Amino acid sequence: MRIFISGIAGFLGSHLADRLLAEGHTVIGVDTLVGGYLDNVPKGAEFHQVDCLDHAAMQRLTEGVDVVYHCACTAYEGLSVFSPHIVTQNTFGNTISLLSASVANKVKRFVFCSSMARYGTQDTLPFTEDMTPRPQDPYGIAKYAAELAIRELCETHGMEYVIAVPHNIIGPRQKYDDPYRNVASIMINLMLQGRQPVIYGDGEQVRCFSFVQDVIDPLEKLMHRADVVGQVINVGPDEESVTINQLAQTIGRLLNVECKPIYMPDRPREVKKATCSAQKARTLLGYKTQYTLEQGLQEMIEYIKTRGVKPFTYHLPLEIVTDAIPRTWKDRLF
Ligand SMILES: NC(=O)c1ccc[n+]([C@@H]2O[C@H](COP(=O)([O-])OP(=O)(O)OC[C@H]3O[C@@H](n4cnc5c(N)ncnc54)[C@H](O)[C@@H]3O)[C@@H](O)[C@H]2O)c1
Repeated sequence: MRIFISGIAGFLGSHLADRLLAEGHTVIGVDTLVGGYLDNVPKGAEFHQVDCLDHAAMQRLTEGVDVVYHCACTAYEGLSVFSPHIVTQNTFGNTISLLSASVANKVKRFVFCSSMARYGTQDTLPFTEDMTPRPQDPYGIAKYAAELAIRELCETHGMEYVIAVPHNIIGPRQKYDDPYRNVASIMINLMLQGRQPVIYGDGEQVRCFSFVQDVIDPLEKLMHRADVVGQVINVGPDEESVTINQLAQTIGRLLNVECKPIYMPDRPREVKKATCSAQKARTLLGYKTQYTLEQGLQEMIEYIKTRGVKPFTYHLPLEIVTDAIPRTWKDRLF
């Protein structure tokens, strides 16, 4: 099949491209490199450094494509409260541009990478797909708005779609010099430099981390299966939830360094408890978690050690600078 992957230089998009190339598919990918690394792009893929917001390019590049995986995004949940314009245009706006081109070119199936940010705060954990979304920051709102637009346009024009909901993915190729997101990568990059991790709030936020291969397996199945069309499906494990404090201590132990986190004020709008049920993926896709949290963290530690620690790059504009902004970002403390 001819498969288009947006965000192919990113973490998830590049692993997905590897998998699809290994299965013998033709892979075409685009990326602006605002987020990923150019050397993430697999050699066998046809790569275009193009913005999904460039609608004419999307029309040209989705011609003859069977399946679109839309991974491109500025997936900055915490930052979206301070830089809503850049985050939402690369979450909602770019989706509409690619979606419109895909519909016009009669792409068979559109697989969208949403985010658990769509759920916001719910009364119970873990989040299940039947819960009413309550996104509580511009990133989550843009993801959910994109989902609604996909459903609407796909039903109107007869294109198949699936909404995948990944959560807190870790593993090699994730950007680790980015101060605005990817908590585990930031902690490892800091601790490998002999520095202490920074935790916003009391560190009792609850999360469940997914090793990237545990996301690629179900994601790949979403392009084949007839019974997933029109569905929202959480992809990733639900077995090992941890607090951010526990995460920091685990990384410290794996690195054999004493971990004494630096605590900073809460980040505005941060969801305190967020884990996703994998039950629907188990039932529909035969999902089975293969990697423990420690195995995933160890793989990421090896990756960062091999590439070498890096200084953090403050590569995105802060659009709204108020007292609510984390000092780490305003004063560039990392
Ligand atoms: N990594 C996670 O923990 C996680 C969790 C939930 C959801 N997701 C979703 O999965 C998808 C992939 O995430 P990721 O972790 O690989 O992020 P990533 O930042 O590593 O990859 C996204 C890629 O998209 C590119 N991009 C951004 N805007 C673009 C645009 N307008 N046109 C073309 N390219 C553009 C970036 O340069 C980047 O390489 C995203 O949609 C994200 O919201 C990721």
